[in-house]
Amino acid sequence: MTLLLNPRDYETVARERLSQSVYDYYAGGAGDEITVRENERAWTRRRLVPRMLVDVSACDLRTTALGASLSMPIITAPCALNQLAHPDGELAVARAVSAAGTAQVLSTLSSTSLEDVAAAAPAPRWFQLYCYRDRSITHDLVKRAEAAGYVAICVTVDVQRPGNRERDMRNGFRVPPNVRAMNFGTAIEDTTDGSALLKYINDQFDPSLTWEALDWLRGITSLPIVVKGVLSPADARLAVAHGAGGIGVSNHGGRQLDTVLSSCDALPAIVDAVAGTAEIFVDGGIRRGTDVLTALAMGARAVLVGRPYLWGLAVDGERGVLRVLTLLRDDLALSMALAGTPTIGAIDQALLARTTCE
Ligand code: FNR
Ligand code: LAC
Repeated sequence: MTLLLNPRDYETVARERLSQSVYDYYAGGAGDEITVRENERAWTRRRLVPRMLVDVSACDLRTTALGASLSMPIITAPCALNQLAHPDGELAVARAVSAAGTAQVLSTLSSTSLEDVAAAAPAPRWFQLYCYRDRSITHDLVKRAEAAGYVAICVTVDVQRPGNRERDMRNGFRVPPNVRAMNFGTAIEDTTDGSALLKYINDQFDPSLTWEALDWLRGITSLPIVVKGVLSPADARLAVAHGAGGIGVSNHGGRQLDTVLSSCDALPAIVDAVAGTAEIFVDGGIRRGTDVLTALAMGARAVLVGRPYLWGLAVDGERGVLRVLTLLRDDLALSMALAGTPTIGAIDQALLARTTCE
């Protein structure tokens, strides 16, 4: 096999292994995919200002997120139906994440039940919550996640309706009957009209959700709540006011509203608005150790990666996920050494140049 040195290399090989329609579901986004591209580009516009003659003989990447210890500030993002990439699906991700010493965020739409994932390998795990029209379904998911030992609820607030995913509509994207939404044991039914998953979301997710839902959630669980899908500082402040302990700065990987700003560009104003009252997580387009370093210098506690681990999973199951996480870790460690910031605590705004590049 060719030498795979970074997440992009894994994407190239994954693309050959996956069907066109699964590859497109994973890689694609909404509309003209302007935000998909912008997410990656925005990180590349930042420039670092390294410090010299710091002892970097030992770099320590350890940190914490919501009080849990992590070996590095890189977490796997919730992505639906991991079995589309590999039969081991979320179980492979769980084991790789555990071996890497970090945290996993499991999707409501996982193709393995949240209980089976929790039993697969120890790791601090967050449960990503979609709010269903039927609130008793949502309530049950939260209670099951608590019982299974998940340490946080990560409620996604940017999918009141599914985005305009034209690749999926063109492909008539369907989910094979053996890949089920296993938290419910149900298949994602085929549709004669476009994408099966988009139809499922339209039918099931609650489009009437308001901040009241966060109060409701706060009332039924004492787990920390991370609100994922925030791009505006005003919403970040509201999330904290409604009891969130974490903010997920995210545009859903460019899959929801196209032309929204990149998560990188959204981050600084949110860091300012939240002013230390909640931990800030960011995802979207993180592909390099320098992207992670930039995010942390801007004030993020940790980053989430989505597509990179899906490519690893598609290429080589558990080993592929672990390898992608290890590549990112090594790249971050080297970047920290060369920047003169051997610990996470040493990374701050001084590392960022005032100017950005086009
Ligand atoms: C996602 N994402 C997502 N988010 C979420 O809260 N629940 C989910 O079920 C899913 N499902 C999902 C499927 C696929 C195939 C992708 C690519 C993404 C969004 C995900 O958590 C994250 O926000 C982005 O993927 C981050 O961007 P990158 O790292 O993929 O660029
Ligand atoms: C997606 C949904 C399921 O982005 O979150 O495909």
